[in-house]
Amino acid sequence: MRFSDQFEARFAEMVPHYPTKRSALVPTLLYAQDEIGFLSDEVIAELAQRLELTELEVRNVISYYSMLTTRPRGKYNVQVCTNISCLVRGGEEILLHCQKKLGIRNKGTTPDGMFSLEEVECIGACSWAPAAQVNYDYHENLTAEKMDKVLQEYRQKSAQ
Ligand code: FES
Repeated sequence: MRFSDQFEARFAEMVPHYPTKRSALVPTLLYAQDEIGFLSDEVIAELAQRLELTELEVRNVISYYSMLTTRPRGKYNVQVCTNISCLVRGGEEILLHCQKKLGIRNKGTTPDGMFSLEEVECIGACSWAPAAQVNYDYHENLTAEKMDKVLQEYRQKSAQ
């Protein structure tokens, strides 16, 4: 398993800041996912060994965080919250709108690999519900029209 020099530099710089190696797991998983696109068996085995954890411990942490995935996703992962605050303010309608617009179901990926879609629990933006997260960006007070613009912006960004 070989990561980029940038990953290795970040990893080497980050780990000594934590009291134990295992404490660096979540940021390390995020860096690895950003680089590879998802957390493959190979990545999990490598990081478990580096951070002195079992692969099961690493998988348990991955399963807890919705932003971490062991499956390949689209370039832009659209996570639509349908938890209570978003639900009462139209979160489910936003999710259905995204399904229709992208032509995929929950946990699906568009054939061109551009977008994947996921229904998620609270993403901590309840005051600005309904909300969605695309990769690391938050989009709030969504309407169907606003969501269309968000998706269009990512399409344009990808074409640049
Ligand atoms: S309920 Fe949707 S962000 Fe909290």
